[in-house]
Amino acid sequence: MNSIMTRSPAAIPALLLLSFVSLHTAGAQLSPVNYDEAKVPKYTLPDPLVLSNGNKVTDAATWRQKRRPEILRLFETHIYGRSPGRPAQMTFEVTSTDPQALGGKATRKEVSVYFTGQKDGPKMDLLIYLPNGARKPAPAFVGLNFDGNHAVHPDPGITLSKQWMRPDKEKGIVNNRASEASRGQSASRWAVEKILGRGYALATIYYGDLEPDFAEGFKSGVRSLLGKPDQTALAPDAWSAIGAWAWGLSRALDYFETDRDIDARRVAVLGHSRLGKTSLWAGAQDERFAMVISNDSGCGGAALSRRCFGETVERINTSFPHWFCGNFKKYNGREEALPVDQHTLIALVAPRPVYVASAEQDLWADPRGEFLSAKHAEPVYRLLGAEGLGVEEMPGLNQPVGKTIGYHIRTGKHDVTEYDWEQYLNFADRHFKRH
Ligand code: GCU
Repeated sequence: MNSIMTRSPAAIPALLLLSFVSLHTAGAQLSPVNYDEAKVPKYTLPDPLVLSNGNKVTDAATWRQKRRPEILRLFETHIYGRSPGRPAQMTFEVTSTDPQALGGKATRKEVSVYFTGQKDGPKMDLLIYLPNGARKPAPAFVGLNFDGNHAVHPDPGITLSKQWMRPDKEKGIVNNRASEASRGQSASRWAVEKILGRGYALATIYYGDLEPDFAEGFKSGVRSLLGKPDQTALAPDAWSAIGAWAWGLSRALDYFETDRDIDARRVAVLGHSRLGKTSLWAGAQDERFAMVISNDSGCGGAALSRRCFGETVERINTSFPHWFCGNFKKYNGREEALPVDQHTLIALVAPRPVYVASAEQDLWADPRGEFLSAKHAEPVYRLLGAEGLGVEEMPGLNQPVGKTIGYHIRTGKHDVTEYDWEQYLNFADRHFKRH
């Protein structure tokens, strides 16, 4: 989803840049987008190791029992909203299995998750590829996708999504629905064969199964289908669209716990861009995720809000009012008043491995702010006896760094590439193969 309106102008020709600037400033009096490091305001980050009452956190028990829950509540209340837990009546159904998919390399399974146990009620459809010939249960990557499960690979056996999708002729989406031409359209973002070849399973879900991505989308998504009345009325701390998407990832994990082919204790949750914000929030809340990966997640994801570099809180709340809870709007232009910043979101993942990735041309997502978030989460990792990032300075291009916190900035634009996957697989090998 790279609308010109919302991406870095770095790679955009001058004429288009003009319209970029005017679109960004038209109507709403938004401050200009800052891409100048010298204009980053001076800021003080909330200390992840100081409680709201001012007391220092000096041991793991105080982190676990006091500070971690406190930070989690702050993110729920002010940023992503409060999500419900696992629905009591939820059921799973394996709707298709092909043990010889992708020329025999994989077993392909499709699983429907019926949130209320009713087949005609709200549901999401999981696509799972298991590596044939690898040891089972397999460790897995799970992530939401932007364009439907059928878009992650041209494999004709994947069921075509029937859900609402944003119109896109190039992707074969006509009248808000996918068509045969939509198959494999985002295959470049899912290194399926590479993942399988390294012995990992891959599971994915269309994010629109949980909530279609537009301001009023909550009316036909899980937030209203499952929410209590105050949630459909969107209380200021009710779950947001990102909350609903993240909730779906936890429901996928509920399913993995029942599937003997998948090692539910070695599942990495990952996502790109808005879905990278989502994977961080999912992994922060649900400690069953053994690893968390954020690909170019930017504002409201890995990037520090206080830097106001590229996309700001005000801009994201203006363009995408449904992504975050109502309370987040209070921080438009007032980032310094936030009781947390995004480094404390990463700290919620500690001591589990977390990987933050940036792209050189993705200035809109503030690569340096993404790096600094990872860096400032480090004291929590250290307190819990894990190594953090292991470097002081932001590394050069295409030089992955990190121990329990991984980071790279690669050349190129806002995207998920083969290179990104290569780093995630290496990182997963380092952490998962120890078990
Ligand atoms: C827009 C938005 C970003 C988001 C991105 C995406 O560019 O401003 O915050 O990450 O869309 O999800 O593709």
